Amino acid sequence: MPFPKDFTWGVAASAYQIEGGADADGRGPSIWDTFCHTPGKVWHDQHADVACDHYHRVAEDVQLMRQLGAKAYRLSISWTRILPHGKGAINQPGLDFYSRLVDDLLANGVTPFVTLFHWDYPEDLYQRGGWLNRTSAQWFADYVAIVTDHLSDRVQHWMTLNEPQVFLKFGHGDGINAPGLKLPLADQLLATHHTLLAHGKGVQALRAHAKTPAQVGWAPVCVVRYPSTLSEQDQAAARHATCAVTQPDLWNNAWFNDPVLLGHYPEEGLKIFGDACPHVSEGDMQTIKQPLDFLGLNIYEGQPVHAGPSGQAVFTPRPVGHPLTAFRWPVEPESLYWGPRFMHDRYKLPIYITENGLSNVDWVSLDGKVHDPQRIDFTHRYLRSLRRACDDGVDVKGYFHWSLMDNFEWAAGYKERFGLIYVDFETGRRIPKDSALWYRDVIRANGDNL
Ligand code: FCB
Repeated sequence: MPFPKDFTWGVAASAYQIEGGADADGRGPSIWDTFCHTPGKVWHDQHADVACDHYHRVAEDVQLMRQLGAKAYRLSISWTRILPHGKGAINQPGLDFYSRLVDDLLANGVTPFVTLFHWDYPEDLYQRGGWLNRTSAQWFADYVAIVTDHLSDRVQHWMTLNEPQVFLKFGHGDGINAPGLKLPLADQLLATHHTLLAHGKGVQALRAHAKTPAQVGWAPVCVVRYPSTLSEQDQAAARHATCAVTQPDLWNNAWFNDPVLLGHYPEEGLKIFGDACPHVSEGDMQTIKQPLDFLGLNIYEGQPVHAGPSGQAVFTPRPVGHPLTAFRWPVEPESLYWGPRFMHDRYKLPIYITENGLSNVDWVSLDGKVHDPQRIDFTHRYLRSLRRACDDGVDVKGYFHWSLMDNFEWAAGYKERFGLIYVDFETGRRIPKDSALWYRDVIRANGDNL
């Protein structure tokens, strides 16, 4: 069975992880530059000053996408390439870079899907309080307006924020990502409220400035709990655990998607967070809840659960020896069925899988090729689940494999290789892995070969 007609087969990457060119043409520093250059924060003190040097090799990378037959490319814009200080003076060369990239993608039959914020928050605005400062929402909207003015004659697909759960929890709560803060829950929730406002104001700016009809969404993590059996009780327990706030931290879907898509914080979250909940000013929820055209979901794994004595979700232990990726993330193809299904049932929006993939132990073989059968098998299994979701009526519009190429994996540096294309970080040389050729065939067959 093929995937739905016009299914968007894509690949994804993000600015800080691939571009390099940290000081090129007037780019300003982001919190990730600062974090990486603080000893002890990133694996082997690595940084992305050069990364894949995509900034200088962009034409070659677009050709690789063309050879892959990718229909779409999910890229992100570096805020400080456009506004080196986060606000104020515009850096024209930064805009020109993305403008050329968009032209080149379109000339090669690849549709750009643009993420406006993929974690590289401007350092200068961080010095003014960052996401803890409510004005962040306006700074973001002003930046979005500039990008929209320059690219929306050619770009129609937009996402505001990538994985707010991750940059808020791991960046502001656990301290393992930039900016490395370990704030109390109340402050994490305040920063969250401001990012939700930023999303809302960002969508308003996009709609007000778009020169062609804009398709707008966002790309949160989808935290998936899936039923370990098909019994009604297990399904209900899994659905509840996926759709509600059940523990006192930011690792959930509802605290983010309910305000954005339903216009209010979820009841159970308000109870669990109690006094730590942020003050909501009049009009905030109207700002946050803007009409969206799609919901993006980043899904890598899920956790099996069953119904406990009172119907609540209880984790089902995985069998001993359950497969793990190189990152030690469990291989859970079921997540690409149940995640989209629960989210579609709850929010009723078309869905794009905006990220899915794995890190694998890849190297160049004696024959000069990169053989990655695990990546092929992993993606094969996950895509079968996704097709099952489509068959069962979930409106899935597309799938973006993370990632186009090996890149800087945040606090793990270059330890984890997620690419369909291998990158030799010493020379910059790219080698499409076996999985890239396999994915090309999947795209050609619209998944009918899976
Ligand atoms: C996601 C991030 C993405 C990449 C993958 C592996 O959490 O959005 O940038 O690092 O994980």
